[in-house]
Amino acid sequence: MKFFVDTADTKDIADLAATGLIDGVTTNPSLIAKSGRPFAEVIAEICALTSGPVSAEVVATDYDGMINEGRKLAKIASNVTVKLPLTLDGLKACKTLTGEGTQVNVTLCFSANQALLAAKAGATFISPFIGRLDDIHLDGMELIHEIRQIYDNYLFDTEILAASIRTANHVKLCALAGADVMTAPPAVIKSLVNHPLTDKGLETFLADAKKAGIKV
Ligand code: E4P
Repeated sequence: MKFFVDTADTKDIADLAATGLIDGVTTNPSLIAKSGRPFAEVIAEICALTSGPVSAEVVATDYDGMINEGRKLAKIASNVTVKLPLTLDGLKACKTLTGEGTQVNVTLCFSANQALLAAKAGATFISPFIGRLDDIHLDGMELIHEIRQIYDNYLFDTEILAASIRTANHVKLCALAGADVMTAPPAVIKSLVNHPLTDKGLETFLADAKKAGIKV
């Protein structure tokens, strides 16, 4: 499963990119606003930090506006993936932009039928939002299983990009469900390494090495 980091904070992205564990970046207008920086500038900087796909979202809601913004975003760098909302205009724009060779991430997916439409529109990625479904007491992970089955039934090559990941357990369940990619905030990705028995074991090994005067 590929790991994308869901942030527009370039310092966090640079730190994580240095681990070699990150395969791409996702942003959204809320994350860009939080960075407090100009949109095109921050996307260009992120694109230079990773060779993987960097999702940059349009803010237009009509077809012509999305196409204009999408083409502008795609010119920033060759690894820009244009992020479009899951609306009829968004799907129409997806068909046009992917036809021009631009990668498209269709976002704000909350149902299997929406994911089916995105695949038919030629989306490169579909972003089902797990955490936001859990927030309203639905089972976000069930959606990943449903989409996996539908895409496998018809051999769609749209990649399932599990989004709105809030916990380490979400990451594990996405991997078990066969998501192609997951995107999570930096803190969630960093938390995956933690286990109390790792800390305890290391402490004991180091204490024993010190007692025995072991040098490597
Ligand atoms: C993904 O592309 C979105 O930016 C993100 O995962 C949304 O997460 P949230 O529901 O925690 O805001």
